[in-house]
Amino acid sequence: MEKPYNENTLVRQLQERRADRKARIQRDLERYGSEVLQSEEMQRAFQQTHHQWSTVGEHTVRVTFSSVMICYVLRKLNIKVNIPAVVVGALCHDLGILGRSGKYTSQKECLREHPKESVAVARELVENLPEKTEDIIERHMWPAGNSKAPNSIEGAVVSIADKYSAVKDIIKGSEVNHTGVKNFLHDEKEKIMDMFGPGEDSGLE
Ligand SMILES: [Fe+2]
Ligand SMILES: [Fe+2]
Repeated sequence: MEKPYNENTLVRQLQERRADRKARIQRDLERYGSEVLQSEEMQRAFQQTHHQWSTVGEHTVRVTFSSVMICYVLRKLNIKVNIPAVVVGALCHDLGILGRSGKYTSQKECLREHPKESVAVARELVENLPEKTEDIIERHMWPAGNSKAPNSIEGAVVSIADKYSAVKDIIKGSEVNHTGVKNFLHDEKEKIMDMFGPGEDSGLE
């Protein structure tokens, strides 16, 4: 059945607003994070798995997009927020994970130590890295990994976006490696369908 005119209009308007917001975030990323985005580390980040089905690079982009989106909302509420610090902090927060197997002896050590290592990478990539950005990176794991709590709004934004994006990583997975819970479930469904054979009703849609 054809959708009523007003419903189509609303959907189109929402899609346009979403596209506008995405373009605005991309502009902010390029304006404030170009040194990090163009680095060799960022390229390597798309080759290392993270949160089981995603890559460090895709996780990083998700965290940065979500962080900047939260900043836009905070600004609408007249809450001052430093977007350049958020962009650089979010882009660098997990770069210390790169080469994990050679750096850390256990998952626990990686969890605890990678924020400091990410700060070291960020210092190499960004000239005169502000202290605020260092703190965002160093405290992003809070409340996990014995991390200190964020000491700024910007730090809280990145820490929250990090947790939200970790869930997204698992559900959506990686576009590079074509993984994720959705694909996993799809594969499982295919296996069950095969077991039942054609023409049998497996009870799965
Ligand atoms: Fe992290
Ligand atoms: Fe992270």
